[in-house]
Amino acid sequence: MLNVFRSARRTLRRWIKGPHADLGFKPQPDFYYLASFPKSGNTWVRFLLANLLAGEELGLQGFGRYVPDSHIKGDLAYMADPATPFNQMRPRFVKTHLHYRPIFRRAIYIARDGRDAMTSYYHWRNKRSEQPVTLREIITGNIYWGSWSDHVLGWLNSGCELLVVKYEDLYADTAGQVRRILDFCGMQASDEQIASAVAASSFDRMRAKEQAAQGAATPFFVRKGGSGDWRNLFSPEDEELFWRYHRAGMLAAGYGDHSGS
Ligand code: A3P
Repeated sequence: MLNVFRSARRTLRRWIKGPHADLGFKPQPDFYYLASFPKSGNTWVRFLLANLLAGEELGLQGFGRYVPDSHIKGDLAYMADPATPFNQMRPRFVKTHLHYRPIFRRAIYIARDGRDAMTSYYHWRNKRSEQPVTLREIITGNIYWGSWSDHVLGWLNSGCELLVVKYEDLYADTAGQVRRILDFCGMQASDEQIASAVAASSFDRMRAKEQAAQGAATPFFVRKGGSGDWRNLFSPEDEELFWRYHRAGMLAAGYGDHSGS
């Protein structure tokens, strides 16, 4: 009985403070949201766009001034400051992990195979956090950001102006996907400008930047990259549980509908 009460309280708290929470700012008509479930490659896309907007190679500290996060207090302060690079850009990009809500009108949705996003989340949480999380909790959506499928389906079925970019496609052809994003947003850039943003945002370069920022510590943000690391984490039971919870989301995002894929 006590457990039921605790779980209801946790769910309520997540709705008030968590992934469905109010934004801390007023959305503007020129905003494009870079939306994704955590660990789907959002920082990579953000960094690519920030480098393009800046027209120079940025450090990992500077890019939030170009593409802020809807959820971080410091970034909200940038957004309120008319002098910040973010406010000099048109259009403007805002990163969010929030679930879809009608306040969002236009977005680039970054999708990643749910198993890889969850594996990435598992390592990220358990490496840095005082509150470790189990894979089962992630699969069943019993985490701050809720259910992977709810997130994907909410955005894909939202009816808002949406471009879906898959992490796997970005990995296979980064420049091609950047071009898709720019076309969607009506932005111009030369092949050379795109190529230098892509080079500045390569896995190795971003990892080196993270490593430099942290000293000798192992990077946990730009961790491994690529696809299929879930195979090193998921047991057959985890896989079964995953498909029980996420078949609809995987199908909708174009990742097939069966285990072992
Ligand atoms: P892994 O943990 O599987 O390596 P997010 O930014 O949404 O939190 O996503 C983090 C994931 O994107 C991590 O996945 C990270 O390694 C990967 N990533 C970050 N930068 C990348 C890059 N330049 N190229 C490929 N993958 C990148």
